[in-house]
Amino acid sequence: MSLKDKIIISKLPEHVAIIMDGNGRWAKRRGSERIFGHQQGIKAVRNVVEASGELGIKYLTLFAFSKENWCRPKAEIDALMDLMASTIKAESETLIKNNIRLLITGDLDCMSSAITSELQKVTEATKNNTGLTLVIALSYSSRWEIAEAAAKICKDFNAGKLKEINEEVFARYLVTAGIPDPALLVRTSGEFRISNFLLWQIAYAELYFTEKLWPDFSKEDFYEAIISYQKRERRFGKTGEQCK
Ligand code: IPE
Ligand code: IPE
Ligand code: MG
Repeated sequence: MSLKDKIIISKLPEHVAIIMDGNGRWAKRRGSERIFGHQQGIKAVRNVVEASGELGIKYLTLFAFSKENWCRPKAEIDALMDLMASTIKAESETLIKNNIRLLITGDLDCMSSAITSELQKVTEATKNNTGLTLVIALSYSSRWEIAEAAAKICKDFNAGKLKEINEEVFARYLVTAGIPDPALLVRTSGEFRISNFLLWQIAYAELYFTEKLWPDFSKEDFYEAIISYQKRERRFGKTGEQCK
């Protein structure tokens, strides 16, 4: 029985989020520049997007660049931005053909207008697609998002547009408004941390860590993460007996 056949389709996580980590180390281990690892990481992105579409997962969020990543050497940032813009442009036909809706979340004010307009074209072209929703978190950090949401809530509250503030209202002010919380969060590269990713949204996500470096992450690795998720009992505070 293949790994894929072990997946129970009726128990798929509705939303999988991935911290794609380890590109730089992957390249260094081969005596190459870090950017080579980022380039090779694109294959792994294709793997998980394809696998998600084939399985019927509804939402896939990929952490591509954090706000903290702006502190990296300029040459790496420039190369990464070029790579992202060219990849999204090159893949736009495939996204359309495969009925994938692309969303970009993050502080796009930090990015060059050449890149944001390219991204906008693809999000516009795919906005009515009804298959997988692919969310790319770019120039994203969770504390930034939460602070922005709090500021907007205060403004709307003071202007009388909001009568009460609760969890449901707060979630509407996040950049992920309308997207269900991730059920499964995967991080590659053997690091056991969240690195400022979706702190609000992963309150009850199942966490899955793997030693694999991102460019080596295959469809089989993705299936393994889903199988691990499907073996867990998600109790949401209840007792095991209540969940039976
Ligand atoms: C993840 O790989 C990609 C980004 C953060 C942009 P890294 O570039 O962080 O690779 P490592 O963790 O240094 O190996
Ligand atoms: C997290 O990876 C950000 C992305 C994968 C885009 P980092 O490599 O930036 O995280 P830290 O710095 O090791 O925590
Ligand atoms: Mg890293």
